[in-house]
Amino acid sequence: MSPTPSPSSPQASPRADNWHTRAIGVTVLAFVVSAVVGFVALPLAQPDLKLKDVWDAICSAAGVASRPTAEKPIEPDFKVSSVVLTPDLLNLEDAQSIGRGATLAHQCAICHGPAGISRADSPNLTGQYASVVYKELKDFKTGARVNAVMTPFALVLSEQDMIDIAAYYAYLPRLPSPRADGTPPPRIVANGDPMRGIAPCGACHGELDNKRGSPRIDGQPAQYILSQLQAFASGERRNDISQQMRTIARQMTPSEMEAAARYYSGESR
Ligand code: HEC
Ligand code: HEC
Repeated sequence: MSPTPSPSSPQASPRADNWHTRAIGVTVLAFVVSAVVGFVALPLAQPDLKLKDVWDAICSAAGVASRPTAEKPIEPDFKVSSVVLTPDLLNLEDAQSIGRGATLAHQCAICHGPAGISRADSPNLTGQYASVVYKELKDFKTGARVNAVMTPFALVLSEQDMIDIAAYYAYLPRLPSPRADGTPPPRIVANGDPMRGIAPCGACHGELDNKRGSPRIDGQPAQYILSQLQAFASGERRNDISQQMRTIARQMTPSEMEAAARYYSGESR
């Protein structure tokens, strides 16, 4: 007498396996069909997308930029700023760095003044943010910002020189406000113009809510402020990250530029 086969006996398992395999098969099939529909058929069915082939369709459905169509990636025909403003860039306060910076700054004094206060129309550097001094020097050095007078001086500076010089000027006292009499700001400075996408200057250049990377412009020579606004507007100066200043300057009228320059320089009387 042979024993009755139990449910777990070898005879029962081919059917159980079969069922298992079919279940997996159906799932995989459903997956493949939906992937083909979702990633290939539907994207290809949209004429607007102008997809070249199946791989393009898959990339587009996955939200990945497809292969570049041009042979080479498109590069701007000018240098862009290579400076990344990190929190570390703002803490350049060690005494040794400041001391080295003071020595290096002797060669800058002829234009920027012995204490960073220019008597010519060069920008004042006293009390300027370290991140700004560093960024501008680096931009002159890499060619992202170009100036016939300034560029040669930046070209010979090493990375550490630029850090030390930035620490030194940031350590010097800020200029007192050039508007002791409390001259009210012109409209363009106080309110900007929302219709033209101009934020109030103080939103970035303000004493309190200074936005990282925006230079201190209070007390700069009027001629310097004006020339920079004009240079941003014409695109001659284009080292501002994300075109923050170019977008604004392009929208300003010549008389607004003059009013802003007079106000910030303290020559508004
Ligand atoms: C011969 C004159 C001259 C000398 C020397 C000189 N600079 Fe300048 N510097 C200028 C002028 C002019 C500008 C404004 C350039 C412009 O209009 O874009 C400038 C701009 C700058 C700026 C940008 C300021 C800002 O607010 O954007 C920095 C930083 C700077 N100089 C640092 C230095 C340092 C550091 C040295 C010494 C190693 C130096 N300069 C030597 C004339 C000079
Ligand atoms: C959205 C922020 C923002 C606003 C608003 C803004 N600026 Fe600027 N501005 C910047 C930044 C950032 C820079 C530095 C660009 C760079 O990296 O060299 C700059 C640079 C400048 C400079 C050159 C300073 C120097 O030392 O080189 C001047 C002048 C200036 N701005 C004037 C103005 C005036 C006037 C207004 C108002 C009409 C204004 N800005 C509004 C962000 C702003």
